[in-house]
Formats: sequence, C-alpha cells, structure tokens
Amino acid sequence: MLIRDTHGNALTGASAAAREHYEAALDLLRVYRNDPLAKADAAIADSPGFAMAHALKAWLFLLGTEPGGFEPARAAHAAAKAAAATAREQGHVAAIGQVIENRWWDASRTLAQVAIDNPHDALALQVGHQVDFFTGNARLLRDRIARALPEWSPGMPGYHALLGMHAFGLEECGDYARAERQGRRAVELDARDSWAQHAVAHVLEMQGRQADGIAWMRAAPDDWTRDSFFAVHNWWHLALYHLDLGEIDEVLKLYDGPINGGRSAVALELIDHSAMLWRLMLRGVDVGDRWRPLADQWAAFASAGNYAFNDAHAMMAFVATGRTAQMVEVLEAQERAMARDDDNAMFTRDVGRPLSLALKAFGDGDHKRVVCLLRPVIGVASRFGGSHAQRDLLDLTMIEAAQRGGDTALARALTAERREVKPSSPHNRALFDRARAVARAA
Ligand SMILES: [Fe+2]
Repeated sequence: MLIRDTHGNALTGASAAAREHYEAALDLLRVYRNDPLAKADAAIADSPGFAMAHALKAWLFLLGTEPGGFEPARAAHAAAKAAAATAREQGHVAAIGQVIENRWWDASRTLAQVAIDNPHDALALQVGHQVDFFTGNARLLRDRIARALPEWSPGMPGYHALLGMHAFGLEECGDYARAERQGRRAVELDARDSWAQHAVAHVLEMQGRQADGIAWMRAAPDDWTRDSFFAVHNWWHLALYHLDLGEIDEVLKLYDGPINGGRSAVALELIDHSAMLWRLMLRGVDVGDRWRPLADQWAAFASAGNYAFNDAHAMMAFVATGRTAQMVEVLEAQERAMARDDDNAMFTRDVGRPLSLALKAFGDGDHKRVVCLLRPVIGVASRFGGSHAQRDLLDLTMIEAAQRGGDTALARALTAERREVKPSSPHNRALFDRARAVARAA
C-alpha cells in the first residue's frame, strides 16, 4: 500500500511506522527543536528503502554549512537516489546533489519547481527557504512561500511554519508591517516556532524598536529556547537590541550565558559569536579573553573554504587574536574556492574574499585599505548570504575604518545615511554625532 504523508505526498518505501518517525522529524525541523536527525534515522531503520527519509537526512547534514556534513550527505543522497520513484522525490534528490556540488542557485530553482508542482511539500518549501537564506535571495525568501500559501489553510499541520517563513521573507524585502503580522500569527499558532519568533525579531531590529524587541524576546523565552538548536541565534538578536542601547554589561552577560555558554562548535553558532565580538570590538569594548577560545574553535574551519560567509567570520577571530598562520589558511582556502566552478566561487570572489582581506587590513591598522576593499562590496554583500542584520557588520566596519583612517567626509556621509534609515537607534545617532564633530573640527 502506498503510504502518504500528512499533506498527501506519496512516500516511496515507507511503512506506516516509518512515516510516523518521518512526520515527527519534519515537525521538529519546522520548529528547530530536539533531534530531527534521530527521527529520520528511526524512519530509515524501519524502512531502509524510504526515499524521503534519506533525502531529509541529507538536507539535515547540508543545511548547517558544515564542511563535515558533505560526506554523510553524499551517502544519504545516494540512498535517496536509489529509492526515489516519484518526480517529487527525484526533485529533492536533484536539489541535494546540486547543494553537494555547491550549486546553490540551481538547487534553489529545482526546489522551487518541486514546490510549484507540489505546493503541500512542506519540506521542499522549508529547505528552499534555507537555500534562499544562504544565497541572500530576499525576493524568493518571500515569494517561494507566497506561491504556496493559497493552497494552505490554518487547520493544516505546519501552517504556522509557512507564516513564519513568509514573515522572514517579507522582512528581508522591507515589508515590515506585514512581516510582523505574519510572524506574530505564526507564534500564536505554535509558540515553539522559533523561526517565526526570529522573523519578528528581525522586524524590530530593522525598525530600531529596541524596547519592543527586548519585550518580544523576554516575554516567553522558554517557548523559543527549550531544546532548540536555533536558540543561540535568537539570543544573539536579543543582545543586538541591548547593544544598540549601549547596555554593554547586558550584552556580555548574554554572550557569556546563552550565546556562548554551551561552547558550541557549530559553524552557524560560531558566526553569531564572531559577529557579536566584532561589533563590540568596533565600539572599543574590551572583551577580555573571549576571542581566544573562539579562534580555537574556528581553527577547524580555517582551510574548509566551502562557504564564504563562514570564512569571513572565522577571519574575524583570527584577526582579533593576531593568528597570522590561520589568516593565511583562510586566504589560501579562498583561492582554491575561487578556482572552482561553483556558486561558492562567486560568493567568495564577490564578497567573502574582499571582506576577509578588509578584516585583515583592519587588524593591521590599515584603515584606508579597509575602505577601498569594502566600498565595492557593500552594495552586493547579499551575494554571500545571510540577513540584512548580519551583513550590517560590513557597514559598521567600513564606518569605523573611515573614521579611524581620517576620511571624515565619508564617515559623516555613511553615518548620516545610517541615521536616516534607523533614526531611533541610539548607536546610529552616536556614530553620526561623532563623525560630524570630527569633520567640523578637521
Ligand atoms: Fe537573524
């Protein structure tokens, strides 16, 4: 008997029991909680020919951008390929193969077609959404979900996740009011939805509503932190509000507590660690010995060169600790990456490489070079993925370099631009006031 998932998609090779494990895995993945991989493994143990369980396993290994994820993803991909029988399953197999080859944009299109043909394929929508994040594709973060939404209704399992993803896409497209509405609805439907929680956090960050942001995150943290493997990033967002308010003690408390307390060695969390310490460094805050253990953790990634966004955040830790050998390792890995014919070659060439060189120049005190390297990159930084809030680090670095390098006119212009975009930000006002005072005195 052909088994179907809760949304009616055929599941080749699944038993009824395996389907329950698979559905449980999808439910956990939708809220970034517990261990969906263990559930996928349970499904495979029950039904070794279950194509989508192997596909799910491959996605779980790939979407952490871990260099160590490729090998197990390849094995799961091969098993999925051997078992896949429907066009939908074969679409997943093709897209997984494309991500393994670092052809993210091809995978984006393949998954888009899977979801166009199967708008109730929640997994295709979710992994496609993540691919959009890793490629900085704001429009598709919104529209991949918008295409499917009319086929969904509030009573369907996982509907909250559609709203949460749509909210994040709307936010990245600057449609903040609708983003906030969709995100809050999603959390009302399922308080565990930490991606929707995150989408609203982004809205409040972009609008400079620090008090609202703190209230939003602190109202019920147990909902978005319990057993969550996305909690560190959400705590990072809370710390950003406190940072904007100049509440450095609170930022360091969050850093030493939930952001870094678990001492994770997962790339996506190390990114948050680097991004927070670099912001503090730019503000002249003494972060003590916090960079050293972080640089130790990044050491394992120095020569990976599989994702430019990671390289740059590793570089921050090596620059901050003066680890020249590891800076060279990153730069050499980037040279190898740029010589390949894949999307990461483009991410690296267009953004990751000049940014890494700029970070190194910042460490060397060569602020004029930092500005030269970053000015062409700022307008195309989305090409190496991440969110507006994450990529703001490039703007902050360029402003600080312009200021320290004596380019007072540029510092004044950039901080004026920044204050105009988010006038309620105390930090933006402080940057502008400083730049104008220095420019007038010059
Ligand atoms: Fe975020």
